[in-house]
Amino acid sequence: MVVGGGAREHAMCDAVYRSNDAELYSVMSSLNPGIQLLAKDFLKEKETNVEKVVEFAQEKEIDLVIVGPEAPLEAGIVNELSKAGIKACSPTKEAARIETDKEWMRNLLKKYKIPGQLKCETFTDVEKARRFIENLNGEVAIKPIGLTGGKGVRVSGDHFNGMDEALVYVKEVIDKQIGGKAKVLIEEKAIGEEFTLQAFSDGETILPFPAVQDHKRLLPGDKGVNTGGMGSYSCENGLLPFLTRSDYEEGAAILQKIVEVLNKEGCKYIGPIYGQFMLTVDGPKIIEINARFGDPEAMNVLPLLETDFIDICKGMLNGNLNSKKMQMKKKSTVCKYVVPEGYAVKSMVGEKVFVDENSIKNTGSQLFYASVNKANDYVLTTTSRSLAVIGISDTLSSAENICEQALNHVEGDHIFIRHDIGTSELVEKRVKHMNELRGI
Ligand code: AMP
Ligand code: GLY
Repeated sequence: MVVGGGAREHAMCDAVYRSNDAELYSVMSSLNPGIQLLAKDFLKEKETNVEKVVEFAQEKEIDLVIVGPEAPLEAGIVNELSKAGIKACSPTKEAARIETDKEWMRNLLKKYKIPGQLKCETFTDVEKARRFIENLNGEVAIKPIGLTGGKGVRVSGDHFNGMDEALVYVKEVIDKQIGGKAKVLIEEKAIGEEFTLQAFSDGETILPFPAVQDHKRLLPGDKGVNTGGMGSYSCENGLLPFLTRSDYEEGAAILQKIVEVLNKEGCKYIGPIYGQFMLTVDGPKIIEINARFGDPEAMNVLPLLETDFIDICKGMLNGNLNSKKMQMKKKSTVCKYVVPEGYAVKSMVGEKVFVDENSIKNTGSQLFYASVNKANDYVLTTTSRSLAVIGISDTLSSAENICEQALNHVEGDHIFIRHDIGTSELVEKRVKHMNELRGI
């Protein structure tokens, strides 16, 4: 049973569906037409309504649960499933604090001297925060402690300029208790190129996926507000055009250490784990750790998985991932989200989108639905992202090309796509940026 109804979860459901003898069940708060087709049965319910989810899992005699989004993890869904005797390949509430409590996460990194740390402190007092920001010459990221759906982080130069603007936000986070606490986390701003590394963990061993680069900003050229993610790409060699094998290994070693220290702290981490890193001139720095697959990043890697997904899940549960090999297709991927016009500011809701599923498939692309309402021959936009198309091919440029071909079969008067994702122009810009920082 997969918990969640977004495009990430559609990709997870697809991986379960491809598995040899799995029967798929789903819990989703709104109907995902893609998941609906794959699932034997589903419960339409808020994913955080743990009691209802556990009841449904018991009723359907579910053998194995995997959770997509972070909110149900924080609500203790895995703990409650476990009490009911149902196994889950996702972290407990305690282990998920690696994502849900940024202060705890940063303290854990400090305590065990994990590589890739940034200077950071938490504050309840605006004046003390000011002094810390001054010491870092104003080059900071300001973050709420808890979950904010990816919308709580503000970075100097990107979202605010100067001390006055910084302190306005510091005060707002504390006063309004954004992220659940009257506290704010201030981090040194890391400069470089971002990459995502996802891995399966059985609590001791990790099996890492190819690296992915996400695009958080709304508009082409990385302009505009931060979003849930507009698209992402990955390369056939598992690296990124600016990321060397040794950078990748450093990132993977950090994730491995985090899993080990979580174990020492008595919260064994089982499930997919996600590291977001900034590759700087001093190597990868930890931006955040998530207790789940990334959205959109799951859609770059799961379609490439050749090993039986359920077999890997069993490996996570039985603690024998070290005996498993993860076979992946050696392909590049480009994922572009189709979102309603005005998304992240004021979405145009209820607009028609025509999706020619067969023609998309014929291009060699994959289609994953996100948040739409189904009508007869079309879908309707909601406030959130509508659907994602993933081009898969031997090289990055052909994957981008195929993705665009497929997007020709998605039509609507009020949709928006960041067409620059995965293009050689944008990718080269990233390589150039990294080379400049490295003095090459
Ligand atoms: P998050 O919600 O933690 O993923 O943060 C949103 C975005 O803010 C990240 O994707 C980064 O681009 C940026 N960011 C977060 N923390 C830092 C940091 N310490 N230095 C530079 N950029 C950051
Ligand atoms: N792609 C960012 C996230 O899933 O948090």
